[in-house]
Amino acid sequence: MKKNILITGGAGFIGSHVVRRFVNRYPDYQIINLDALTYAGNLENLKDLESADNYTFRKCDITDIGAVESLFKEFKIHSIIHLAAESHVDRSITNPIDFVMTNVVGTVILLNAFKQFGEVSEGRFYHVSTDEVYGTLGDDGKFTESTPYDPNSPYSASKASSDHFVRAYHETFKLPMVISNCSNNYGSHQFPEKLIPLMIHNIKNSKPLPVYGKGDNIRDWLWVEDHASAIDVIFHEGRLGETYNIGGNNEWKNLDLVHKLCEIMDRKLGRPEGKSAELITFVTDRAGHDFRYAIDASKLENELKWSPSVAFDQGFEKTIDWYLENEAWLDGVTSGAYQSYYSQLYDHR
Ligand code: NAD
Ligand code: TYD
Repeated sequence: MKKNILITGGAGFIGSHVVRRFVNRYPDYQIINLDALTYAGNLENLKDLESADNYTFRKCDITDIGAVESLFKEFKIHSIIHLAAESHVDRSITNPIDFVMTNVVGTVILLNAFKQFGEVSEGRFYHVSTDEVYGTLGDDGKFTESTPYDPNSPYSASKASSDHFVRAYHETFKLPMVISNCSNNYGSHQFPEKLIPLMIHNIKNSKPLPVYGKGDNIRDWLWVEDHASAIDVIFHEGRLGETYNIGGNNEWKNLDLVHKLCEIMDRKLGRPEGKSAELITFVTDRAGHDFRYAIDASKLENELKWSPSVAFDQGFEKTIDWYLENEAWLDGVTSGAYQSYYSQLYDHR
């Protein structure tokens, strides 16, 4: 009998990489991808898996209790890898309630369904979370698993809340769970509201590159495939009840990263050196903008022997090539609703 592994948010950026990895590597799992297909979910991301016999897709909103329970009655769920979320900080500032609904209420609905109908004596609930729950760092130091939670944005507050619910279900109901908190991901199939694909799209179209504030904020960037490999190892070998930080040990100041991107894009697009950087425009800072994120991933590295597989230069180049080679994907996701989102957030900023 195949084990039914439910992956939520599998049509999104990170979820699609996790689904592909699990479908290809684990023929003994039936991978059930549950996704509401919001603006961020895109079945184009998984076209190559449509005919795989260990892959099933179900369109379902995790805030819909009835629909979630029906799914759990249809499939005996062995384990869950929960990625479905509202994931963009700027949208959480404009519309925090969506974040509470999906990230908090939706997570609790899944926890409850798993507790009631899942194979809790054998499987586990894996909650995929973010380093943003820890708040912000100054110039020094890194987040460890024991850093107190101190979220600053509605997005990170909602993720922190969902982490707490997962822990509470473990303490109260002995629900088997594991949580990981990862730094910023980059790679193919990322929705162009996030820094890197947004800048790639704008450079391609010779549009202004909106850098928030002075571009001094610092993020740690991890290649999405390496996040998926960390999820794989934590899912299979992580100790129940534990949290693992995941990071790339790869800190970049936003402005330096955008300059690096401009240089590579000039070369790839055959533009004169310095051309794309002329598009850099400093815009009003994001409200409550966290200054710096940096991750100490030594627990994961030492305990589970995980490490990132690619150097940043290599992963970044691959990522840029993917967006340039997949023009139809980028055009598809930047038409329609994206245009009004972009105007609302960036026009007159
Ligand atoms: P994403 O926005 O690209 O994808 C989210 C997916 O969830 C989409 O497919 C969307 O359709 C689905 N979804 C949203 N609301 C839903 C609902 N109510 N019911 C069912 N499905 C719903 O997000 P991502 O960047 O791939 O992030 C995935 C997870 O990883 C999130 O939980 C996020 O908090 C976490 N995370 C992201 C990063 C990052 O850098 N992107 C870093 C660390 C952790
Ligand atoms: P983002 O990709 O939104 O990830 P997060 O806010 O979750 O870290 O942003 C990464 C960094 O880039 C963050 O410091 C905000 C900044 N940023 C810009 O300067 N301009 C932009 O248009 C965007 C989307 C982000």
